[in-house]
Amino acid sequence: MHGSCSNDVNNNYSNKTVQDTSLHTQPQMHSTALVNTMRGKDLFMNRCNDCHGPTGSAREMNAANLQVSVLDSIGMAQTIRNGRGIMPAFKDVLPDSDVAQVILYVRSMRQ
Ligand code: HEC
Repeated sequence: MHGSCSNDVNNNYSNKTVQDTSLHTQPQMHSTALVNTMRGKDLFMNRCNDCHGPTGSAREMNAANLQVSVLDSIGMAQTIRNGRGIMPAFKDVLPDSDVAQVILYVRSMRQ
């Protein structure tokens, strides 16, 4: 996926909705809560885009490819709050509600 990360800032993610089934382990259970990822996209573009790129697959500074990440939401929250390696900690700049929004957006980028 190298080279796919620079020019697609205007991809139409803005009104994308994800069906968040993260709290359900039974495949037959479906959450009906549709979550708008607009706020998460804004946060991502401001805070994460430099390293992870607009589609999450850029690997600037050796960043992890978020499209293929298998981290669950709790692991992501820990990574975002506390940082990891070169990735800075965001716990002093993003309130938990923003961390939650950006996680929803990151999950929506997965393939
Ligand atoms: C300065 C560059 C940089 C910025 C800015 C950055 N990251 Fe990262 N990110 C990294 C690097 C590097 C790693 C890999 C860390 C390691 O494992 O050593 C990483 C790893 C991650 C992981 C773990 C993925 C996995 O599967 O292990 C997540 C999730 C993540 N970043 C999300 C974010 C989010 C969300 C933001 C914005 C709030 C963000 N990152 C901002 C560089 C960055």
